[in-house]
Order: sequence, then structure tokens, then C-alpha cells
Amino acid sequence: MKVLGIETSCDETSAAVVRDGGEILSNVVSSQVDLHRPYGGVVPELASRNHLRLITSVVGKALRSARTKPEEIDAVGATYGPGLASSLLIGLNVGKGIAFAAGKPFIGINHVEAHLYSPLFANQAMDALPMVSLIVSGGHTILAHVSSVGEHEILGQTVDDAAGEAFDKVAKLLGLGYPGGPEIEKLAKQGNPAAIDFPRSMLHDGSDDFSFSGLKTAVLYFLKKNPQHRAEDVCASFQEAVVDVLVGKTLRAALRRSVRTVSTSGGVSINGRLREALKAGCDEHGLQLLLAPANLCTDNAAMIAALAYHKLQAGQRSDFSLEVAPSIGLGVN
Ligand code: KG4
Ligand code: ZN
Repeated sequence: MKVLGIETSCDETSAAVVRDGGEILSNVVSSQVDLHRPYGGVVPELASRNHLRLITSVVGKALRSARTKPEEIDAVGATYGPGLASSLLIGLNVGKGIAFAAGKPFIGINHVEAHLYSPLFANQAMDALPMVSLIVSGGHTILAHVSSVGEHEILGQTVDDAAGEAFDKVAKLLGLGYPGGPEIEKLAKQGNPAAIDFPRSMLHDGSDDFSFSGLKTAVLYFLKKNPQHRAEDVCASFQEAVVDVLVGKTLRAALRRSVRTVSTSGGVSINGRLREALKAGCDEHGLQLLLAPANLCTDNAAMIAALAYHKLQAGQRSDFSLEVAPSIGLGVN
């Protein structure tokens, strides 16, 4: 079964063709990062106009690279939330339109749920469940327990900033480029992670929730008090504080829930130091770590098509009247 996936929730215009929920035949991602960079963040109006401009060529390219004619698509899945309303509208409506015209089933997909399952699809490791999964992106920081596809429970989430948002905001304080995560990781490689003792908020409070706004404020005060700082040391110490909290809480939840698999997804999960620390922790406790390749960690339509396949197989469909849901949560399915 070939599913066409479409993703336009933020600043990536993406379309993919995935066979049987795991074999990626194409995954075209057109990033608008360069367009939004001068503004230091995503400008919604610019994002939606560009989705509108690019979506048909991106879908066409995804079909051509998959050597698939439109009539050979068996179903269409498109992100309907969460994200920017005006951006979601573009992909959702194009997805509905293609499915409607071709008389094929359509299903709306929750973007965060697709991030959650991407390491499973990427590794074709559906038998690795149950798992504890950490989703860390620009908009979300969620720790979830997954017992089977479509059956997950939120254990904890951020009470303020998302992990990626903290990277982006601290990068801005340091005058680095956007998005901040890769810039901070690059500088951190030349810095000392023990140079500054930044706070590990909520690490030992017993909950599975996260908080990153205190850390951001601590960096701000440090920079004000120490105008002669070494940016490399600030980046390395900040990154280490984020990684300590993410890894500490993820491992603790995995051990408490007695799972044998841990996974992480979302843009921040590309971070090399996070991957290394998570791997070391998993090895120490005999846990299997599932990671997705970088192009499946950031926003992409392959994860949308893969999850759509599994939902369609379970008999789910969406009505063509489905609306965008900009602030929908991961929910309990
Ligand atoms: O998943 P994603 O592409 O988009 C959202 O759904 O939010 O995540 C983007 C976030 C940004 O905040 C970016 O700074 C962060 O992921 N990011 C990183 C790295 N690469 C991207 N954070 C830390 N280290 C990285 N290497
Ligand atoms: Zn995302």
C-alpha cells in the first residue's frame, strides 16, 4: 500500500511516498529556514504563502522520485495539527483535494504523534514496544510511554519553554544564527561543559515534567555579569545542562516503567551530545536505544505517511470536513 504524506505545519513544505508504513520511496523536504533567518524565527504569513507557492511542485517531485503516478497512490495522509493555522491549511487542503479527486481514503495526522513514532518506523522495529520516548522539538518537549502503535500515554512535558526553544533563545542571547540548536552544538564542541554550573531544573523533583525558562534566564544573567565570557564555554555548559535533564528524566521513566526500549525524536534529537549521553545511559541499563536519521528527526512528510498507513490499517479514516487543529496536544489514544 502506497501512502502519500503531506506536511506543512511550520516552515518545511514536505511530501513523501511510503510503502507499507516503512519503505520510504521518496521524502521531499523544502525548508524555508533561509527565508525566516533574517527575522530570527518563523513568520507565519511568509510561511503559509511559501507553502502555497511550493506545495504542488513538492508533491509532484515526491511522486516522480517514487516513480509513482497519482492514480497509483492508495491513500493520502496530511498533518492537521498542531502548528501554524495558516500553514496547516495549505497541506491539509491539498491532501484532501488529491484524495477527493482520486477517490482514495484520507486521514489527518497529528504532527507530534508522527514525531513520536518516527524512530520505530525508521528502524522497522515495531516489535521493540513498549518504549519510553522523548520528543524534543522547537515546539514540544514530551516524555511518553508507548505500548503499541496508537496507544501512548504522556508521562510529562515542559511547563514553559520547549528544549528547542531554549536552544533558539540562548543562541539569540549569544548573537548566534537561527535556528540556534546547530549553532550552539557547533560552538559547544570547542567549549568546556563543566565551565559554568547552570541549573538542572526539576531534575530531582520526581516528576516527568520539564522546565527550561529558568536555565535561559540563568544564561542571560551570566552573560550580563560576565561580559568577557567565552561563548564556547557558555554553549557547552548550557547544552550539558539541557542534556543532563533530558537524559536523566528519560532513563528514570524507562526504568520505572520497566520498558526495554528508549527512543528520541524531533529536531533537538539530532544533537550529538544528547545522542551520546542517551546511548551511554541506555547501555549502562541494558536498554535498546532507537534513533531516527537526522532527516526523519526534523519535520518531514515520511513520518506523516508512515503513521497514516498504520492508522488506515487499523480502520481509521478522516472526514473531508476535518479542520486544522493548531493547538491540539498529543492526547491519549
Ligand atoms: O522538529 P523540528 O524540526 O521542528 C519542530 O517541530 O519544532 O525542531 C526544530 C528545533 C529547533 O528549535 C532547533 O534549534 C532544534 O530543533 N535543533 C537542535 C539541533 N538541530 C535542530 N537543537 C540542538 N542541537 C541540534 N543539533
Ligand atoms: Zn516537528
